[in-house]
Amino acid sequence: NRCEGCRANNYQVSSNMPKNEPTKRVDTVDIEELVSQSLSGEEIKFCRCYRSSRFPLCDGAHNAHNKEAGDNAGPVVIKSFPP
Ligand code: FES
Repeated sequence: NRCEGCRANNYQVSSNMPKNEPTKRVDTVDIEELVSQSLSGEEIKFCRCYRSSRFPLCDGAHNAHNKEAGDNAGPVVIKSFPP
């Protein structure tokens, strides 16, 4: 489960993704609950690198991964949602 950059450079970078699940990984987010925990107008960032300790939310761990692996991973940013 290495990214393109890791494969190309043969980096062995571990992630927080559990590898022992028998089927594909599916994460469910209750968007109303998530929005209610955020300030109106605040961005919500979803992790795409599987290294966040707050998964499925981004905690910035992609920066260390990118530096180590020469990758360019980053979050999905949700910018607009109701107050
Ligand atoms: Fe994974 Fe930011 S920590 S995209």
